[in-house]
Amino acid sequence: MSVLVTGGSGFIGSHTVVELQEAGYDVVVIDNLSNSSPKSLQRVEEITGKPVKFYQVDIRDREGLEKVFAAEQIESCIHFAGLKAVGESVKKPWEYYENNIGGTLVLVDVMRKHGVKDIIFSSSSTVYGDPDTVPVTEESPVKKCTNPYGSTKSMQETIFMDIQNADPEWNIVLLRYFNPIGAHPSGKIGENPNGIPNNLMPYITQVAVGRQPFLRVFGNDYPTPDGTGVRDYIHVVDLAKGHVKALNRIKAGCGLAVYNLGTGKGYSVLEIVKNFEEASGVKIPYEIQERRAGDIAVNYADPSKAAREMGWKAELGIREMCADSWNWQKNNPNGYGD
Ligand code: NAD
Ligand code: UD1
Repeated sequence: MSVLVTGGSGFIGSHTVVELQEAGYDVVVIDNLSNSSPKSLQRVEEITGKPVKFYQVDIRDREGLEKVFAAEQIESCIHFAGLKAVGESVKKPWEYYENNIGGTLVLVDVMRKHGVKDIIFSSSSTVYGDPDTVPVTEESPVKKCTNPYGSTKSMQETIFMDIQNADPEWNIVLLRYFNPIGAHPSGKIGENPNGIPNNLMPYITQVAVGRQPFLRVFGNDYPTPDGTGVRDYIHVVDLAKGHVKALNRIKAGCGLAVYNLGTGKGYSVLEIVKNFEEASGVKIPYEIQERRAGDIAVNYADPSKAAREMGWKAELGIREMCADSWNWQKNNPNGYGD
C-alpha cells in the first residue's frame, strides 16, 4: 500500500517524500510540474537511496488520476498540489480558484470512488488573517483572507470539513503551516522559486549569491521590538516530519483534525537577516521600504495541540534554518537549473 503525494516534486512535497521513505512508507508522487522540476525527485532518490514512483498528472485530470488509482494500491493521500503565489492570485483569481478548488474536488471524488478516504491537506496560517491575539491556537477565529490564494485555503478547509461531516468514514487532517524555510541538510533539495522570490528567505539567499542586489525590508514601523514584521519560521524538515506524524493520527481514525505546524517562536525580518549573516558569513545589504500591502505585524503559532495529540514538535532552530537555506542556495545558485 502506498501514500499518494500530490505536488510531491515541489518544495514541501519533496522534503516530505524523503521523510516518508525514511519512515518506511511506499510513495507515489503525482505533479503537473507547473511549479517544480522533475530533478527534485531524482535528488530525493539520491538522498534516500530508494526509487520514487512518479506520474506527471494534473489533479484536475480525472482520467489521469483514475489511471494512477487503477495502477497503484493507494491507501491515503497527502495533498500539496496547488498554486501558492499571493500576488499572482490577486491578478489571476480564476486560475487560483479553478486549480486549487477545482483540482481538490476532482481528487476527492476519484479518491472516494476508489474507497480511499484518508487525506492530509496543506493549509496555511493565512486562514487566521490578522489575528487579534498571538500565539494563535486552532480555536482562534478563521478570518476573511485578503487575497484569492488565502481564500482558496479557507474554502478548501470548509470543503474538507463538510465532506467529513457528511461521511464520517473520512479521516482528514488539516495542517496549518506557518512560514516554512530551510532545506534538507544534504543541500540536494530546497526551495526553487520561479522568477523574483516573494518570500523573505529565498529573497535573502538570492541576495547572498548575487542574484538580487539588496533586500527590501517592507516596513520598520510595525508595533514590534525593532519595527519589522514578526513571523513563525519553521524548518521544512520539521514540517515534513509533521506529515508522517499526521499519518499516524489518520490510522488511529481521527475523523477531522486541525493542527498548527509552527515553532511557537516569532522572529523579526531584521533578526532573520542577522541570523542568516551569522550562519553564512555573507553580509546582506538591505533598504527599509514601505509596508507591503496585505502584510500583518505579528503572527506565530501555539503548536501545543500537535505536540499533545501527534507527538510532534519542531526540533530545528533558526540557526539550522538559515544554515540549511544557505547550504542549498550556495550549492545550487540557480536552483535545479531548468
Ligand atoms: P510548490 O509550488 O513548491 O509545490 C506545489 C506543487 O504542486 C508544485 O510542484 C506544482 O508543480 C504542483 N501543482 C500545482 N498545481 C497542480 C495541479 N493542478 N496538478 C498537479 N500538480 C500541481 O509549493 P510548496 O511551497 O511546496 O507548497 C505546497 C503546499 O503547501 C501548497 O498547497 C501551498 O499552498 C501550501 N503552503 C505552502 C506554504 C509555503 O510557505 N511554502 C505555506 C502554507 C501552505
Ligand atoms: C506569505 C503570504 C502567506 C503565505 C506565506 C507562505 C503574503 C501577504 N502572505 O506570508 O499567505 O501563506 O507567505 O510562506 O504574501 N519581507 C520583507 N522583504 C521581502 C519579503 C518579505 O521584508 O522581500 C517581510 C514581510 O513583510 C514579512 C516577512 O518578511 O514581515 C515574511 O514575509 P513572507 O516570507 O513573504 O511571508 P508572509 O508574508 O508571512
